[in-house]
Amino acid sequence: MDISRPRGTRDFLFAEMRNRKEVEGVLRRTFETYGYHEIKTPIFEELKLFTVKSGEEVVNQIYHFTDKGGRELALRPELTAPVARLYMNEMQKKPKPIKMYYFGSCFRYERPQAGRFRQFWQFGCELIGGRSPLAEAEVISLASESLHELGLDGFEVHIGHLGILRGILGREEIPSELQDRIMGVIDKGDVEELEALLGEVEVSGESRELLMKLIGTQGGPEVLDDVEEYLGGYSESLEALEEFRELVETLHYFGVDDYHVNLGIARGLDYYTGIVFEIYVPELGAQKQICGGGTYNLVETFGGERVESTGFAFGFDRLMNALGMDEENMRMVDVFVIPIQDSTVPEAIRITQELRAAGVSADLEVSGRKLRKALSHADNLGARFAVLTGEREIQDGKVTVKDMERNSQETLPRDEMVDKIKGRC
Ligand code: HAM
Repeated sequence: MDISRPRGTRDFLFAEMRNRKEVEGVLRRTFETYGYHEIKTPIFEELKLFTVKSGEEVVNQIYHFTDKGGRELALRPELTAPVARLYMNEMQKKPKPIKMYYFGSCFRYERPQAGRFRQFWQFGCELIGGRSPLAEAEVISLASESLHELGLDGFEVHIGHLGILRGILGREEIPSELQDRIMGVIDKGDVEELEALLGEVEVSGESRELLMKLIGTQGGPEVLDDVEEYLGGYSESLEALEEFRELVETLHYFGVDDYHVNLGIARGLDYYTGIVFEIYVPELGAQKQICGGGTYNLVETFGGERVESTGFAFGFDRLMNALGMDEENMRMVDVFVIPIQDSTVPEAIRITQELRAAGVSADLEVSGRKLRKALSHADNLGARFAVLTGEREIQDGKVTVKDMERNSQETLPRDEMVDKIKGRC
């Protein structure tokens, strides 16, 4: 019988889980200092939630199925649409803005490779009902601060504005679905395909040239002056540019000055309307994008009122790859308790329970191994101390404590042992 894991999924063992929990803890703390609170939504949703406005690529990658009641359901490929749904169902009347964060697995049927999985985790947030560009600047500041808190070096924050590109397509009277397709091709970064598509949809030579020039524009905030010059009389795009300038100014007040203006950012999801951003760790290669986000109006798309929202999600697995944390030397337990004779098993149990009650992680020799083998097991577990219960010592009100790191041994009064060990763990 073949019982291997499904393609594109992973098992996480102890050390990896310890590291993931540590990173999760830092992210939780940072998000909470910005006033976000955690929510959880179902792993599966109605399929239509994702087909309304999620972008061709994501829709093609959706795991979907019909349940026994004939409902069309999908494993969530991302969490922004579920959070917008939750807001519509539960929170429309609550005072805004509402700041929510989440950590959960997502599913996309794509070709697995390093950093690209079929089940992966997102740690993200949505700020519903904020005002641009102040809310956007705060969201970008949270993303950047989280990475600093994690001690990650060498990441690049790239910020773009879809309004600038869409302003040009709008002026050419390109219908919004076709615009989404064009944005999808820009997101893929395939220049040839883009040129072919722009030719096909009859964009004027002037606009085509302008688009190509803009998506190649990257640099510090000063490139916005060049953009203004390129844009000439494209008034809708100029409005978006003005918003971008305000964002730049606001980011400075948040202490975020290290980023790239990159108008080539189009994002692979169709719901974005304004500022968009991505964070890259170039040394990860093809899957260097560890974070994506931006401003959107999904609530309106779902039939609610117009509520501007901004959010982002870290690709948690890629973030772990970028952090490259050590998986060796894991301490499975602080203390390993070994009864020397069968007659001392009850006392060994009592000691183990006392240590646990004092908050010290403790494990007991439950396989009946003799001392030498039991000590070798304690060593494999990375235990800091082994406690040995010998008949004679117990009668004298004592126990032997072996320091596994220093390879030394001492006899301690039984009633002081727990406190002493606790102080040293
Ligand atoms: P996204 O860029 O599609 O955006 O995904 C967010 C992050 O998830 C990516 O930057 C990437 O790091 C990670 N990711 C995506 N697909 C995979 C995969 N197959 N394997 C491993 N990691 C992956 C969103 O999903 C938006 N909902 C983000 C957002 C929140 N926008 C506004 N609010």
